[in-house]
Amino acid sequence: MSTPNIFWFIPTHGDSRYLGTTKGARPVNADYLKQVAVAADTLGYDGVLLPTGRSCEDAWIVASSLINATTRLKFLVAIRPGLSTPGLAVRMASTFDRLSNGRLLINVVTGGDQGELEADGLYADHTKRYEISREFFKVWRASMAGEGGAAGYDFEGKHIQVKGAKTLYPAVQKPYPPLYFGGSSEPAHELAAEQMDVYLTWGEPPAAVAEKLADIRARAAKHGRTLKFGIRLHVIVRETNEEAWRAADELISHLDDDTIAKAQAAFAKMDSVGQRRMAALHGGRRDQLEVSPNLWAGVGLVRGGAGTALVGDPETVAARMREYADLGIETFILSGYPHLEESYRFAELVFPLLGKGTEQGEQSITGPFGEMMASDILPRKAA
Ligand SMILES: Cc1cc2nc3c(=O)[nH]c(=O)nc-3n(C[C@H](O)[C@H](O)[C@H](O)COP(=O)(O)O)c2cc1C
Repeated sequence: MSTPNIFWFIPTHGDSRYLGTTKGARPVNADYLKQVAVAADTLGYDGVLLPTGRSCEDAWIVASSLINATTRLKFLVAIRPGLSTPGLAVRMASTFDRLSNGRLLINVVTGGDQGELEADGLYADHTKRYEISREFFKVWRASMAGEGGAAGYDFEGKHIQVKGAKTLYPAVQKPYPPLYFGGSSEPAHELAAEQMDVYLTWGEPPAAVAEKLADIRARAAKHGRTLKFGIRLHVIVRETNEEAWRAADELISHLDDDTIAKAQAAFAKMDSVGQRRMAALHGGRRDQLEVSPNLWAGVGLVRGGAGTALVGDPETVAARMREYADLGIETFILSGYPHLEESYRFAELVFPLLGKGTEQGEQSITGPFGEMMASDILPRKAA
């Protein structure tokens, strides 16, 4: 596999050692979020995903606060069509891209929880939300690209109308920062095929991912387009397989059945096809969580969205990643609990197996790595 893009995750909805309890939990504040971002930047991750929704701190504000703490890291930040106008979304994206010197990536989130969206003031069912997204990103892309010239860009859609839209401070990336997109319903696949640059899937078993990618590819071909692909997974990597599986068990060792039932009931009310596919992997049962070799669905017992983790020793995890890469996945968006420590663990144990270096570290430190012994005994170079 060619060297994949590896992203980490900024935990703006909390962080912990164990799911479902305050035991081992830590405050997530500006300082901690900065620590996670700086770790990802220093270790050589290519980017970070910031989630969006009412369960999170605002992604745009948090990402902005991290620009000057980092040097190379890209920020995958969500736009939710319908919650803002295209004009405002264009201005926010251009300014962020300018201030970060081209480090913005957009995650297009149409949304899958009508209750949450109505609480935010957006009254639109699944079908209408995708209609809005389609029009919104036609306008967003045209405005970002400066279509319409000096007179500005006009659009008269069913849901969105703009007149004379102009971007006076254009983005650094041309024609606009790349559009990433996750959604598993039929209209989602169609929108991805028509307008998006990178299609993201949550971590379903490889056979299911292969089917989704084939469908997107076929639809995109009808539009004369191609897309790139990414996957969002948790990782539980340890030096041995036994330790990794023990860590997976520990992660849910304080989680009670009542909390699982409540979370599953909440997911069942959502209209997100992607969420339904995640929940169907385990059916709310904690005794059948390895849903495909080394793919563990324990996180999804209570966490919305990405609910599966790759579990194993470094070689096993790298091998499973290679299986996804063989299907066409180029970007892996990963996370682990707690996010700071696990960013180090994954980079130290798995990056070398993926051909990924700590370039920044190598530039600023001439080595050796590891602690010096006595007055001048160097650490032995590991095999
Ligand atoms: C990698 C990835 C990240 C996502 N991030 C978010 C998010 O931060 N907030 C959110 O509300 N939905 C998020 N989603 C959900 C989708 O954007 C989409 O709204 C949802 O899956 C409903 O669409 P569907 O019914 O077509 O699956 C994400 C999906 C994927 C695959």
